[in-house]
Amino acid sequence: MADTAKFELGGKGFEYPVLSGSTGPDVVDIRKLYAQTGAFTYDPGFTSTASCESSITYIDGDAGILLHRGYPIDQLAEQSTFMEVAYLLLNGELPEGTTLEEFKTTITRHTMVNEQLATFFRGFRRDAHPMAILCGVVGALSAFYHDSTDITDPQQRMIASHRLIAKMPTIAAMAYKYSVGQPFVYPRNDLSYTANFLRMTFSVPAEEYEVDPVVEAAMDKIFILHADHEQNASTSTVRLAGSSGANPFACIAAGIACLWGPAHGGANEAALNMLREIGTPDRIPEYIARAKNKDDPFRLMGFGHRVYKNFDPRAKVLSKAAGEVLAKLGKNDPVLDTARELERIALEDPYFIDKKLYPNVDFYSGVILSAIGFPTTMFTVLFALARTTGWVAQWNEMIADPEQKIGRPRQLYTGATQRDYIPVADR
Ligand code: SDX
Repeated sequence: MADTAKFELGGKGFEYPVLSGSTGPDVVDIRKLYAQTGAFTYDPGFTSTASCESSITYIDGDAGILLHRGYPIDQLAEQSTFMEVAYLLLNGELPEGTTLEEFKTTITRHTMVNEQLATFFRGFRRDAHPMAILCGVVGALSAFYHDSTDITDPQQRMIASHRLIAKMPTIAAMAYKYSVGQPFVYPRNDLSYTANFLRMTFSVPAEEYEVDPVVEAAMDKIFILHADHEQNASTSTVRLAGSSGANPFACIAAGIACLWGPAHGGANEAALNMLREIGTPDRIPEYIARAKNKDDPFRLMGFGHRVYKNFDPRAKVLSKAAGEVLAKLGKNDPVLDTARELERIALEDPYFIDKKLYPNVDFYSGVILSAIGFPTTMFTVLFALARTTGWVAQWNEMIADPEQKIGRPRQLYTGATQRDYIPVADR
């Protein structure tokens, strides 16, 4: 017998079904609550609200577990590749050999962008933030691909998904090149997805460029760690935009806009800027005190998480990778020492222990990205590049969901009740 949730409102009793997933918290199905009780639920920030049913990613915040289609993130980060994870997120299963090669070939053959797109960049100032450029250019993609915007056609949905995954590295690299005044570099079909991106970003026409395998492996691992993460703010934005029937390019542009916020994907840029501002470990107590001061809006960037209340498994992988990559590249960035000391001090402080604040995915990623050669302004672009795979997987799942309908939350209204208009002469 399925469980039910019972409660009283206005002296009347109500009962709602409790639904169970394959793992994780049960949900109370309140879809009929307003019709039956005349009341809404109230949950700003959706801290206790499941917006959808999904089978793509599962997070156990207390246990520090992150699964993509059931596979633990640490195993994928150590043993898989970003292209394989992209296929897994989109299709639900790990591909066998030929299927993976076919997928990689499909993605490779969509990496070029329409040449007209290059003129879009000319309209931006050279010092435009690359996220502003990414947001604008990705939103404009729908102007070029009318043959893959009919969301009712599964074939067109998959072509649009492949185009978005394939073209994000090209557009991201173009945004970087434009910001440093260097010519755009075309993709090459003989390179891996990640090597192609690194070459489009860092090569110049004046000399040959060889992708460093250490850098390629680190970049690919970072892409895997940022690929998807349940119904986070930007994924929920993509789903909400998609629920109106908007084309996938517009939906991903909406996700990019949301990710840019410093409370979300913009935290990787903010975290490295914070670590650089702190400078040396002796200044850490000053910043810990600020983070604890209710009157100070300062927060430790790269710390805390809505779901993880033990540790972010991605941060553990990145913390280990940071030391390895810097050592292999022969780089010694004092910021890494500051980051580790900040983590140590914070995790001994009752404020952080009580509020269950731990380093998240954004705390260490910037140290690695900086060592590879990216400016901090590119960090969230790289997050968006990787997360596009998760966004399109979640978007496809939503469109294919027979229960999906346009998202339209309600509110607790606290404004003026009805009153009559007063002509300005009588006010
Ligand atoms: C990402 O959702 C996802 O999955 C996101 C993400 C993904 O992969 O998609 O994981 C990526 O966005 C990671 C988070 C990156 N953001 C940051 O690092 C910015 C700093 N962190 C915070 O702003 C905050 O922790 C959030 C936004 C991440 C989570 O905020 P919540 O869940 O709304 O928690 P909260 O703001 O209610 O904080 C709870 C308490 C508060 O104190 P009280 O009001 O209870 O006294 O903890 C405090 C906060 O003041 N707090 C912090 C803090 N984060 C929370 N205090 C100091 N420093 C911090 N970083």
